[in-house]
Amino acid sequence: MKPIPLIFEKSRPGRIGCNLPKADTPEVDVQAILGETRDAVAWPEIGELDMLRHFTNLSHRNYGIEIGFYPLGSCTMKYNPKINERTAGLTGFTHTHPMQPEETIGGFLEVYASCMDILKEITGFDDITMQPVAGAHGELACLMLIKAYHESRGEGAQRRVVLVPDSAHGTNPASAARCGYVVKTIPTAEDGNTDLEALAKELGPDTAAFMVTNPSTLALFETNITKVCQMVHEAGGQVFCDGANMNAMVGTTRPGDHGFDCMHLNLHKTFSTPHGGGGPGCGAIGLKSHLAPYMPGPVITRNDAGQAVLDHDRPHCIGRVSGFFGQSLMAVRALTYFLAYGREGMSSISRYSVLNANYVKARLKDVLPAAHDRPCMHECVLTAKQYKEYGVRALDLSKALIDYGFHPPTNYFPLIVPEAFMIEPTETEAKETLDAFCDALIEICELAKTDPDALHAAPTKAIVGRLDEAAAVKNLDVRYQPA
Ligand SMILES: Cc1ncc(COP(=O)(O)O)c(C=O)c1O
Repeated sequence: MKPIPLIFEKSRPGRIGCNLPKADTPEVDVQAILGETRDAVAWPEIGELDMLRHFTNLSHRNYGIEIGFYPLGSCTMKYNPKINERTAGLTGFTHTHPMQPEETIGGFLEVYASCMDILKEITGFDDITMQPVAGAHGELACLMLIKAYHESRGEGAQRRVVLVPDSAHGTNPASAARCGYVVKTIPTAEDGNTDLEALAKELGPDTAAFMVTNPSTLALFETNITKVCQMVHEAGGQVFCDGANMNAMVGTTRPGDHGFDCMHLNLHKTFSTPHGGGGPGCGAIGLKSHLAPYMPGPVITRNDAGQAVLDHDRPHCIGRVSGFFGQSLMAVRALTYFLAYGREGMSSISRYSVLNANYVKARLKDVLPAAHDRPCMHECVLTAKQYKEYGVRALDLSKALIDYGFHPPTNYFPLIVPEAFMIEPTETEAKETLDAFCDALIEICELAKTDPDALHAAPTKAIVGRLDEAAAVKNLDVRYQPA
């Protein structure tokens, strides 16, 4: 497939793609004001039709949820209803500047406060802040609160260790290390829960926190969670919930009731805001009241009259973790989503996402068995290890799926599952789509035994063939080279 030239390469001097209205203000010599700066900026000069074709062709080379099924485990690639974009595009929101005086942004503050009220109810936490702009950023913010809490009790220097399960997402140990903690790994028991004996051995006066993902990245509900929280609290530590998997719990159960002290939420997973490559998103965090004094400021709260206001008077605040209030239009989108579902509808998110994942797991059980023989939550972690004897890896199965028109699931995560194949269907997919996906995968698994080379060659019908992913990571070169 030929590369599409850059829009700058299509540029021809003097071409124009829009009709600007006659200026009704005095002309200004921009060149004289900006001088060389303006000269340094190249603007594409292109007609409207060519510009439209350019972007439409580019968009056809991409794969997204609006093209097909996107079961990328741990990422919750659900459909984001279009009404979210309508409300986020209202000029009352888009024309607001974060430096406007507080008395002129009452509407925005109300959107935030309403979102926070709903998130408190959904999670069972006492307070919420929506400043962090990604899940990992929310993790870091939670650890900063935990650190401030231990310091306020004179235990900051002593509590230096953050415990992380061996199944954790890489951002957990990274956030802990970034926050200056020593990271220690807690193994997973045979049944997929936390190994309580190993946890007990590691807990002590140096424990700052345990970071638990629930449901875990193995897609299993941590059935010992109240016991785990109790053990960590008895050792004087705090328990953080990685809430990336909140889709399994919305409206059904609340992490705040399980004993957690704080958690992060990925609004771009559970609450239908756009995924943005780690940002701009919203990694809202929930916290119990003992951590509230340290919340990032200014804190959005309600005054006695119930009005949403900014509270700058927080002497123990850790400071800002984001410019202004975070990604404010994410709050508009999430609020739209909350209100569209309503309190009663909310649990259908978790019920259908869990049902869909269990359906896929059951349909694939003969070709891709589950890593743990337990009901899964909103996704299922399967293993493709049986195909290794034919020289076929989980990645080969995934690449073959592209030729059937499906986005591959997540592979090789969690790290503790050999040839992990992690499928997250989400609640927004119809049974026919799940069936078509399972049928394709069953066929591919058969091919793995009869014609492994066909899988090694896949994908053959995509825009690009099999990429050398290791080379792409090691020799990152994202510069465009004109043909
Ligand atoms: C389990 C888990 N935790 C944390 C994160 C980090 O979230 P973000 O990508 O929003 O930084 C992810 C992202 O996929 C995840 O799957």
